[in-house]
Amino acid sequence: MGNNKFVVGNMKMNMTVPEISRYLKEIDGAITSNHVILCPTNLYSPYFLKQSYQVGCQTISEYDMGSYTGEVSAVQAVSMGIRYTLIGHSERRVTLHETDTVIAHKMKKAIESGMQVILCIGESLEEFHSGMTKTVLTRQIQNSLIELTQQQLSQVMIAYEPIWAIGSGIVPTNEEIEDVILYIKQKIKETFDIDYINVLYGGSVNDKNINELSNITSIDGVLVGGASLDAHKFLKIIEVVLSE
Ligand code: PGA
Repeated sequence: MGNNKFVVGNMKMNMTVPEISRYLKEIDGAITSNHVILCPTNLYSPYFLKQSYQVGCQTISEYDMGSYTGEVSAVQAVSMGIRYTLIGHSERRVTLHETDTVIAHKMKKAIESGMQVILCIGESLEEFHSGMTKTVLTRQIQNSLIELTQQQLSQVMIAYEPIWAIGSGIVPTNEEIEDVILYIKQKIKETFDIDYINVLYGGSVNDKNINELSNITSIDGVLVGGASLDAHKFLKIIEVVLSE
């Protein structure tokens, strides 16, 4: 990979405060790139701020402010100094029933608040086996980005995460990933008439397979779940992705 690549850590709903303290000691001073974006559980964000990496939310509300118990808005995140957010992670789509319409609203709120968004898209195993991958991705791309202007798309990167690869230890072949990434780039270019969009790969990325994944020329970085919880593994991934 290379210098303009991104490494995003999605820590999900993991770790307690003592574990976070140990983790932060292990990464302290070791990450010196604003192309590394760590997305801890929202509650823990303040522990991660003011470092030489970026902090992201794992999702944000589709509303700005008000009576929405439990939600955190983009306006609030930005006021804390958080500039990134994931939107549309498959765990939110599948387990928490987040629809394309909700995702489109969240995209708009995040972008209008000045955030950079990592939009997650990906197909299920069934869709993969029935050759539906590109149809599903096209629908997700179109429905999620529909409310944005061409200029606002510069605040978006895409993370291609096949659902069947997340947390499973199974990774598509480099050829399969390359084919899909190129398709996504081409589709977005055609549909929205923009020059370039960063596309990351996510799904069982770890310290063992990162060298192999680095041979894919079209990807602009990786989104790491489980392996981001282990400081040593995460630092190794960063070293490989950001080297050269
Ligand atoms: P994983 O998760 O790396 O544990 O597969 C990736 C993700 O859910 O973003």
